[in-house]
Amino acid sequence: MASDIRDWWDKNSARYQDACDLTVDIHYGPGSPNEDELKLLGELAGKRVLELGCGGGQCTVAFALRGARATGIDFAAGQLEFARKLAAEHGVDVEFVQHDVRDLSPIDAASQDIVFSAFALMYLEDRPAVFREVLRVLRPGGVFAFSVDHPLFRKVDLETLRIVESYHETGPAEDDLGALGATTMYRYRPSDLHNALVDAGFVVERLIEPDSRKRYAHDPWFGRWGVYLPEVLDLVPSTLIFKAVKPGASR
Ligand SMILES: C[S@@+](CC[C@H](N)C(=O)[O-])C[C@H]1O[C@@H](n2cnc3c(N)ncnc32)[C@H](O)[C@@H]1O
Repeated sequence: MASDIRDWWDKNSARYQDACDLTVDIHYGPGSPNEDELKLLGELAGKRVLELGCGGGQCTVAFALRGARATGIDFAAGQLEFARKLAAEHGVDVEFVQHDVRDLSPIDAASQDIVFSAFALMYLEDRPAVFREVLRVLRPGGVFAFSVDHPLFRKVDLETLRIVESYHETGPAEDDLGALGATTMYRYRPSDLHNALVDAGFVVERLIEPDSRKRYAHDPWFGRWGVYLPEVLDLVPSTLIFKAVKPGASR
């Protein structure tokens, strides 16, 4: 199944980048403030930052532009091709690694100050295993911040605005990306993610559900794909964000 998801992202990379037209920025997702507003990561200059599921590298490049030593991992060759060009255009030295983020063996233990991910971890079947890997590559006191689809957003039918599936339903499901078509994602509840982080050994510091009724100036997704409709965003949050910390040394 992971190879189907990889092939989908590989095949649809150009259309995804075209449809999103993302700016180089540390974004968290649709209907959400960006890092400049949320300030979850602290000072970035000189920090080692690893981005999981970096896609076209807009965040990875933004980390590098702020003085971080940034590495982006993604398993889709098409996405990384876009990301490498973007880094070159911005004149930054970023390492992009083509790899499945379920296996972070290319990354040394305790080598990262920050692990970041925007809208990628919903495609992973075994998130607890990934959280354990993230804990391994972070230094003590290191920060893990990630965003995913808010699970409630995916339960609403876009035409009738009714909840059409049990909140408690988890496991594989179709990920409807509107005009781009559909791939597979793995459903979760916030409690599933929270408890998996705690079980892996993290201290969860923040759980953020941005008020998607507000229109954030930088929001690149708003109005795109026919998915993030104002009438849906008025009802339910579209993005869920976690900030967790690896226990140990002070930051
Ligand atoms: C919705 S895109 C988000 C990309 C980028 N973070 C952004 O904000 O635009 C999801 C990305 O996750 C990547 N991805 C999904 N599952 C992955 C896995 N198991 N290993 C590596 N990359 C993965 C896909 O290739 C895709 O580039």
